[in-house]
Amino acid sequence: MKVLGIETSCDETAAAVVEDGITILSNIVASQVDIHARYGGIVPEVASRQHLLTILPVVREAMNEAKVTWRELGGIAVTFGPGLAGSLLVGVNVAKAVALACGLPLIGVNHLEGHVYANWLGRDNLPPFPSLCLIVSGGHTDLVLMRGHGQFDGVGRTRDDAAGEAFDKAARILGLAYPGGPAIERAAQAGTPSLPLPRAWLKGSDDFSFSGLKTALLHLVRQGEILSQAFLVADAAASFQQAVVDVLVTKTIAASEKLRVKQILLAGGVAANGQLRDNFVRLSPLPVTMPEPALCTDNAAMIAACGYYHFQNGKVSGYDLDVVPNLSLARSA
Ligand code: KG4
Ligand code: ZN
Repeated sequence: MKVLGIETSCDETAAAVVEDGITILSNIVASQVDIHARYGGIVPEVASRQHLLTILPVVREAMNEAKVTWRELGGIAVTFGPGLAGSLLVGVNVAKAVALACGLPLIGVNHLEGHVYANWLGRDNLPPFPSLCLIVSGGHTDLVLMRGHGQFDGVGRTRDDAAGEAFDKAARILGLAYPGGPAIERAAQAGTPSLPLPRAWLKGSDDFSFSGLKTALLHLVRQGEILSQAFLVADAAASFQQAVVDVLVTKTIAASEKLRVKQILLAGGVAANGQLRDNFVRLSPLPVTMPEPALCTDNAAMIAACGYYHFQNGKVSGYDLDVVPNLSLARSA
């Protein structure tokens, strides 16, 4: 079964065709990063207007590259939340129009669940259940127990900034480019993690906190210890990255042992971070599955993969599908 996925929750306009939830036939992402970079962050109205301009060419390109006709599709999967309302509306409306015109099932997908299903793309060995998912993106840091397809229990979450948000804010403090995660990772390559930055362990809880770390970095910069010299910016970037990675890796591994899961799954934009990936592989006694870096950040292949499993489990949406900007993934523990 071939599913067309559509993703417009934030600042990437994306469409993809995926077969049987696993095989990518096409995966088109039109990024708006250059447009928003000049503002240092995403401007919601600019994002939704840009989706309007690019969504149809992106869908057409995804169909052409996959060499499929509308008749060969089995369903249309689309992100309906969480995300920016004006951005989500563009994708959901296009998906409804295509579903209606072609008589295809419409499948609403939670963006966070989509990130998790990036771990199914291109795999021979599919992830086993139960698995523990660490979803680290620009808006979320969630630790979620996945008991089966579509079955999620909340384990922990950030109490303040999301991991990606912390990277973005730290980059801003250090005068680095937007988006901050890739900029910090690049800068860190020339530095050593030598600066004393705190780690919020929140002992006894599976939650996370990153705002204290960001404030500590700001204090170091304010004290004038960093910005004067490029190599100190590199050291600050490396120190910040290591502090975030230490907490994510240590706490996720501890929770995976406590919950006796079979595997850890990484998901979301921050899972593209090389240091995070290396540390997980080096330190986890359990197998760790992670999407290839390009499939960690927002894309529509992951939405199509998730939509396929929804369809298999009888989860199809009505034409009254609405956007839910603050949608969450898991029931709280
Ligand atoms: O999942 P995503 O593409 O969009 C959301 O759903 O939010 O995640 C974007 C976030 C941004 O905060 C970005 O700075 C971060 O992921 N990110 C990274 C890296 N690539 C993207 N953070 C650390 N290292 C990276 N290589
Ligand atoms: Zn995302």
